[in-house]
Amino acid sequence: MSETAAQLLLERCDELAAISSNPGLIERLHLSPEHRAANDLVAGWMKDAGLSTWQDAAGNQCGRLEGREPGLPALLLGSHIDTVRDAGRYDGMLGVLLAITTVSRIRDAGIDLPFALEVVAFSDEEGTRFGTALLGSRALAGTWHDDWWNLTDKDGITLFEAFHDFGLDPARLPNAYRRPDNLIGYLEAHIEQGPILEDADRRLAVVTSIAGARRFGLTITGKAGHAGGTPYDRRRDALVGASELVVAVERISKESGTIGTVGRLEAFPGGVNVIPGRVELSLDMRAEFDDDRDDCLRRITEAAHEICERRNLAFHSTEIYRADAVRCDLELQEAFAAGIRATGDAEPMAFWSRAGHDGVAVVAVTPIAMLFLRCRGGISHHPDEAVKKADVAAALDAYEATVLSLVSSSSSS
Ligand code: GLV
Ligand code: MN
Ligand code: MN
Repeated sequence: MSETAAQLLLERCDELAAISSNPGLIERLHLSPEHRAANDLVAGWMKDAGLSTWQDAAGNQCGRLEGREPGLPALLLGSHIDTVRDAGRYDGMLGVLLAITTVSRIRDAGIDLPFALEVVAFSDEEGTRFGTALLGSRALAGTWHDDWWNLTDKDGITLFEAFHDFGLDPARLPNAYRRPDNLIGYLEAHIEQGPILEDADRRLAVVTSIAGARRFGLTITGKAGHAGGTPYDRRRDALVGASELVVAVERISKESGTIGTVGRLEAFPGGVNVIPGRVELSLDMRAEFDDDRDDCLRRITEAAHEICERRNLAFHSTEIYRADAVRCDLELQEAFAAGIRATGDAEPMAFWSRAGHDGVAVVAVTPIAMLFLRCRGGISHHPDEAVKKADVAAALDAYEATVLSLVSSSSSS
């Protein structure tokens, strides 16, 4: 039965993947027409599962199954339905669909629920469109910053305008906030996005914590000039300086056991016969512990200053995103471990998430925990993302058993 449910779930991931702004690729950005279409499709599946549905004031698609009496605090289950550019089809979407199917199975089993179950399909986890991540979950958690309204996308559209274009009223954003006393916790299932499970030949794992991440926009400024006429000793080539920095980011991050990535780099003016006068690049820094991440960042910043001084360049850095590491709740971790054990894995693996997730924001209002599912080659943020049907079936069984274990512990307390 779980295999059949897993098959349907994978077909639904394919249906969602077909909603893309870029034919041939998977690309679904926050508050886009594709986001609207995905919300509508997901709302339909929520209704089929017996949930009442609504879209909240931040564009998150929500569904609710009442507990034994209406209005009880809710256990939230979810993930996100936005994507990176040229994405895979499971990052986020799989977690939303696992949540809907789990709630549907619990409803069909007629379980007496001491709390409500809600599914949330978060509108923006990746931050692809506006450069800052977790906008959907931060609205829900009441940690929204009003200066975000002025963030712009690549076409100069502000977040404020995008809300209007989507049919949302920015003035009503605070209505997306969920009070802690109306919540039991937040559970998320997600592909691992790394190779640990596959290397260990295991299907599922409990997540112990989610890495803290900081992101920066860096600018290196030199002076543009003629590619033929300018002697080397008079050049202030911003791209050569930036290249040294990219290599330093990798070296220092490796040495300090943290993870540093330059994912974007653009040289200006960008002429084939012009020395680059300015380079804009991004820096993403993550670690299990925030102190390690921040120490590494200090060393990278020192290296950047040294490189730029030596090459007569200017260095400027702006922080565009910061989320500190979050520990998953021990009781909810144990519930996921019980869920995995119910699938026949007597000693579930447990490790920290190198990727960011909505739980980083949701933890401000309720305890969080996560279940990881093996993905092929550990590949993610790439169209080659793949999962096995049997693993999805195991995840469904584990998820259902997890919720049932929370039902039992809540009923007996
Ligand atoms: C989200 O996928 C992130 O970890 O950047
Ligand atoms: Mn992602
Ligand atoms: Mn994700």
